[in-house]
Amino acid sequence: MTDAFTPLRIAAMGDLHIREDNAASYRELFGEISREADVFVLTGDLTDLGLAREAELLAHDLKACSIPVVGVLGNHDYESGEQEEVKRILRDTGMHVLDGQSCEIDGVGFVGVKGFAGGFGRRMLGSFGEPAIKQFVHEVMNETLRLENAMRQVRSKRSLVILHYAPIVETIESEPLEIYPFLGSSRLAETIDRFTVTAIVHGHAHRGRYEGRTPGGQRVYNVARHIEKPTGKPYAIIEI
Ligand SMILES: [Fe+2]
Ligand SMILES: [Fe+2]
Repeated sequence: MTDAFTPLRIAAMGDLHIREDNAASYRELFGEISREADVFVLTGDLTDLGLAREAELLAHDLKACSIPVVGVLGNHDYESGEQEEVKRILRDTGMHVLDGQSCEIDGVGFVGVKGFAGGFGRRMLGSFGEPAIKQFVHEVMNETLRLENAMRQVRSKRSLVILHYAPIVETIESEPLEIYPFLGSSRLAETIDRFTVTAIVHGHAHRGRYEGRTPGGQRVYNVARHIEKPTGKPYAIIEI
């Protein structure tokens, strides 16, 4: 049992994009992560096309993981309309799949929601004009409300927010400017900054930057598999 003075070592990684035709296995990496960390966090885009069959491949590899696994789904996990089946398959492995909920492991609160797009700062998309635009903005507002509700449930002093979409621009820098509005929304950071959290992790931007801060100064890490991290590995290690 980890006490208040012993940091919990969290391994975090996103954007596995597991495909049926890809023979690459994560078993060895998951075994290594189990030796390196106390909890394994997955930040979505776990499958490439959101197929139940792809989730089954991940579930098989997760058997090599002997530590608790917590995570969210990403936009790719919704592609085939099988997201409920994907969640069920992953939950059957014991993974905590968070979609507007929280859980506590060894005194640390984990809050998870996928998030959504919409852009950043003064340039973010506003709810104006055609119904389709209003619906788009409504989607991100709804995700922030679900995030806020989940954050209110957390009782622990130490907490990690798990997102798929980015809450700030800093960690998506080096992606093409044209796609920034599709990579995340600062509405997520605004919500998080109403609370005090230990750190925030996200994925989705495969070409972003590892570390940044919310406007309120809270630590944000882009842990997409492709991002260069201090560990030199596809996963980050964050002590909380
Ligand atoms: Fe991705
Ligand atoms: Fe994504």
